[in-house]
Amino acid sequence: MSASKGGGVITGMQDLSWWKHAVVYQIYPRSFQDSNGDGVGDLAGIRSRLDYLVELGIDAIWISPIFPSPMADFGYDVADYCGIEPIFGTMEDFDQLLQEVHRRGLRLILDFVPNHTSDQHPWFIASRSSRENPKRDWYIWRDQPNNWQSHFGGSAWEFDEKTRQYYLHEFLKEQPDLNWRNPAVKAAMFDALRFWLRKGVDGFRVDVMWLMIKDDEFRDNPPNPGYAIGQGSRAQFLPIYDADRPEIHALVAEMRGVLEEFGDRVLIGEIYLPIARLMDYYGQKLQGANLPFNFHLLQCAWTVDELARTIREYMAAIPPGAWPNWVLGNHDQSRIASRIGVQKARAAALLLLSLPGTLTIYNGEELGMQNVLIRPEEVQDPAEKRQPGIGMGRDPERTPMPWNSSPLCGFTSGNPWLPIGDANRDVNVQASRTNPDSMLSLYQRLLRLRRQEPVLVSGQLTEMSAADGLLTFLRTDASGHIRFAMNLAEEAREVSVAAGTVVACTDLQRDGEHVAGTLNLQPAEALLIKMTN
Ligand code: GLC
Repeated sequence: MSASKGGGVITGMQDLSWWKHAVVYQIYPRSFQDSNGDGVGDLAGIRSRLDYLVELGIDAIWISPIFPSPMADFGYDVADYCGIEPIFGTMEDFDQLLQEVHRRGLRLILDFVPNHTSDQHPWFIASRSSRENPKRDWYIWRDQPNNWQSHFGGSAWEFDEKTRQYYLHEFLKEQPDLNWRNPAVKAAMFDALRFWLRKGVDGFRVDVMWLMIKDDEFRDNPPNPGYAIGQGSRAQFLPIYDADRPEIHALVAEMRGVLEEFGDRVLIGEIYLPIARLMDYYGQKLQGANLPFNFHLLQCAWTVDELARTIREYMAAIPPGAWPNWVLGNHDQSRIASRIGVQKARAAALLLLSLPGTLTIYNGEELGMQNVLIRPEEVQDPAEKRQPGIGMGRDPERTPMPWNSSPLCGFTSGNPWLPIGDANRDVNVQASRTNPDSMLSLYQRLLRLRRQEPVLVSGQLTEMSAADGLLTFLRTDASGHIRFAMNLAEEAREVSVAAGTVVACTDLQRDGEHVAGTLNLQPAEALLIKMTN
């Protein structure tokens, strides 16, 4: 493998770790498949759908938190790092799932939530019981609050009547922040990682990695000059002192060290930061996160100029030897089909599957699922409940997977915890499977192609051009050359190409078409051409 530099990547897949050529599939467990009729998905449900994932062609699954939780933030409030939430099943269910995942040659990644626990975690119950409790310093207690704001709105400090101090919660007050400067916290949390690694899990996605360490002087955040009303209270200040602190990198390296004890596992960090800051999370000598999640496709405007700028800037910033990754959706972000429209979402799938490195697909994106309109009385997400009506709610993208065309879409026999949504019924798995024009068929085609054509995973990305609504680039290595072209203009566009064969297209009819010279692309059409030479 050669190091990447300035827009290039890597050659040869031979000695790539499994996670480098993996496509990761995120499962939001509450909404994937219910097996016991309580309206909430579970581990047995996931197990029953593994063959679907094999058929789809992904390599690894990451499951959002499945640990015991009062569900104030739907599992991102953990009350026991080494257990299984009864709503999802038992430890036996988990062991069986892991075994079944591995038997199919897939990998299993868990979600680790280190920044905060549930307020029902025994550590916090002890911590808040008295100022003298040995666990007091496991959380962050202060006599006075500063101006830090919760990501869910309002002050990040909660006054505790009994012990007359404030504790920090970057999210809900039911999610008190752990004090990672305390070595005992570190030791206990690292042991929780080891518990799952010993069972054989293949890695972790680490929740809000960039928030884990805060300023040791608790300085106020400065006002944000760009703040506009309606952006939520946190946006009033620049997150200088409660996020992305320099000390975080030593901590991530230590965490990586724990995974290294177990061999070839993957450490993925959830990090919402500008590209330059994001790169630091690969760590000194690449001993940080294997994959600091790249959310920049989620955040950039869907124009060819912005896409080209984002891809170029990201690839150029990758440190030598580090591995790129791309994300198009997750359980916190509006679904791509709702963001840019169903047609362009097909082109987006083609773009994603043509980019170098590791990819993550959020469950349902492969069907073309859309955001579901949630009526006020149906709202579940605390982010929406705390700051209603300003677009913070994440329920629309968390709705159940539609498996078939029955009234409850095969998701549950009970009352689904979120509505299924009419548009999503139409793209159910059963119907999509037999429809060659479905998004599912397109994803399957693309995932198969990516396995057949390692140049898409690890070849160089070069010759990028963005003009007049057209984005094109070339993926190239010793195994061959594949050209990507996408038309985001409102009218048809022409691209000139050397001789080749269409190996994937948003319009599946074009598969296998021989091209040379001028190529016509309809609006929202994208394709991949395997070049003859
Ligand atoms: C992450 C999760 C999100 C959760 C938050 C607090 O951003 O992805 O769903 O609410 O952290 O844990």
